[in-house]
Amino acid sequence: MSKTALATNNLEAFWMPFTANRQFKKNPRLFVGAKDMHYTTADGRQVLDGTAGLWCCNAGHGRPKITEAVQRQVAEMDYAPAFQMGHPAAFELAARLTALMPSPLDHVFFTNSGSESVETALKMAIAYHRVRGEGARTRLIGRERGYHGVNFGGISVGGIVANRKHFGTLLGGVDHIRHTHDLERNAYSRGQPESGAEYAEELIRVVQLHDPSTIAAVIVEPVAGSTGVLIPPKGYLERLRQICDQHGILLIFDEVITGFGRLGSPFAVDHFGVTPDLVTTAKGITNGVIPMGAVFCTSDIHEAFMTGPEHLIEFFHGYTYSGHPVACAAGLGTLDTYEEEGLLTRGAELEDYWADALHSLKGTRHVIDIRNIGLIGAIELEPIAGEPTKRAFSAFLKAYDAGVLIRTTGDIIALSPPLIIEKSQIDQIVSTLREVLQSLD
Ligand SMILES: Cc1ncc(COP(=O)(O)O)c(C=O)c1O
Repeated sequence: MSKTALATNNLEAFWMPFTANRQFKKNPRLFVGAKDMHYTTADGRQVLDGTAGLWCCNAGHGRPKITEAVQRQVAEMDYAPAFQMGHPAAFELAARLTALMPSPLDHVFFTNSGSESVETALKMAIAYHRVRGEGARTRLIGRERGYHGVNFGGISVGGIVANRKHFGTLLGGVDHIRHTHDLERNAYSRGQPESGAEYAEELIRVVQLHDPSTIAAVIVEPVAGSTGVLIPPKGYLERLRQICDQHGILLIFDEVITGFGRLGSPFAVDHFGVTPDLVTTAKGITNGVIPMGAVFCTSDIHEAFMTGPEHLIEFFHGYTYSGHPVACAAGLGTLDTYEEEGLLTRGAELEDYWADALHSLKGTRHVIDIRNIGLIGAIELEPIAGEPTKRAFSAFLKAYDAGVLIRTTGDIIALSPPLIIEKSQIDQIVSTLREVLQSLD
């Protein structure tokens, strides 16, 4: 069967995630190959990847070291039980990951996705307080517009209304602070906006309302991605850290998209110089090749669990595929690739070029804001009156037809290309977007 025939055959059975299924199936967009910066479509076109897949293929596609590591591991040992047994690659990967992360974030718990990392971190935070005798600390604080995956804990602390409203009452004991988006004061910021550190003060109000002794953790994305790229104002994350410290509350950074070089440093923790107690990761950990996530925690949290009789399990949590051998192999091949090619800091080298290119779109039709940090960019569009999301989605379709993959959320275009991108490819993304935006109603 030809690739095209395959592509158009029997699309009904698959209920696609976060997709307008009926619209998609009338006019499917299928990728059948990927190499370096490009996807190949079912009809044989090359599409430049402006989004690293879904913020995950940070080293680009079809990278030989990762492919070979995966192939070798599948042939050697396909699976080993994750509970009460181990295999060398999981320990090796954990050691290499913690070497990348600043101390005291010295321990790693493996999961299979960003959503599972979030659930794991939330449970770890609540259990940590309990094992230390502060079992009343069960409340979790998230943020409006936050995205922390799609499981119940994650949508409870998350703040994207569409992801929450269909799913009942969610987790109890959760509260939210406001988001930091402020177009009036911060439109067209390059890097961190100047205004808005004071939004962190709202945490004090929420903490006082519930009393600090009831609060386990605050979770934020250092740069909120899925909601349309909200970059933290200068001083904001530092202030959250201070307030958490003052009240014995754990701070969780959800680094599922900011981890592994996206901001021009290995993690947002390095970029902002703010050290949380727990860090959730996934995506770039294996370059998106095999599903995997990891939660980093401080030695203090880890040690709190390592008490009691040694034959007893310390943390009643884990997944059949925690530290899956093939995922670990992919992770090791990925770290080798990042390190050999300097990809975890390449975003810093390209940041100015990237920012100049994106901000050159100021004044283009429909554009009301442009923002950037590391190799992340967002272009916010004026919504069509009464039809939110439609204008940005039309831009997505037109850009795809013109050979560039972008991502949209609401009326915001979000860009996060693989960290191997060349300057000429940045130019291609921007010139394509300029034409697309000019052509939109
Ligand atoms: C900040 C953040 N947390 C969690 C997730 C969920 O990750 P996954 O889709 O792997 O479950 C995402 C996914 O985009 C994310 O951006």
